[in-house]
Amino acid sequence: MLVSRFVLRAFCLTLASSVGFVGCTQESPEPIAATDAEASVYNLTMDTTEFMAHVLEPMADVLWKSAGWILDENEGYYELYPTDDESWLNVHNHGAMIVEAGNLMLLPGRAQDGAWTTYAQATSEVGLRIMSAADAQNNEDLFQAGAQLYSVCTACHQAYNPEILTRFTPGGLTE
Ligand code: HEC
Repeated sequence: MLVSRFVLRAFCLTLASSVGFVGCTQESPEPIAATDAEASVYNLTMDTTEFMAHVLEPMADVLWKSAGWILDENEGYYELYPTDDESWLNVHNHGAMIVEAGNLMLLPGRAQDGAWTTYAQATSEVGLRIMSAADAQNNEDLFQAGAQLYSVCTACHQAYNPEILTRFTPGGLTE
């Protein structure tokens, strides 16, 4: 049996956001097409799914594996928080990447109609909070920001592609 503080909290957030989203209609899943000029400037070889799987999720996993605690029947209770300056810097850097990932979701050809911009901007905001938590080396702030990040991912998936909710299990939450 394995209990993680993050799993429990993330579950509550998911539940809260599902309740909050009852009655909302699903957004159109079509990206807003880039103009020819834009398409020649940005490299959009990766579609949204690839961006999520190879860019955003790996970044987020580093953060989720750096916050909370695990209760494992073999290894007992242990904390995931950074314990030295170097690992805090790694969290700081990944927070910065999350800020920029919010921008990457807004590239012409990747952005979509509806609340997409709001979710992308919220991603960047949470990235800034992660950076501040890392600067202050504050475990609780880092945990809260990690939970907020999970909640932004989930809210956007709920709005744009609800099937993802069943497939989407952040790596850090299951180990
Ligand atoms: C602005 C909206 C938005 C945000 C924010 C967002 N996603 Fe996504 N995500 C999507 C959409 C849309 C898809 C589905 C793309 C498709 O299948 O066409 C997706 C798909 C995925 C997938 C499935 C990829 C696959 O292989 O099928 C993963 C994993 C994922 N997102 C991870 C994340 C993580 C982790 C976060 C937060 C750190 C996040 N996403 C935040 C919109 C978003």
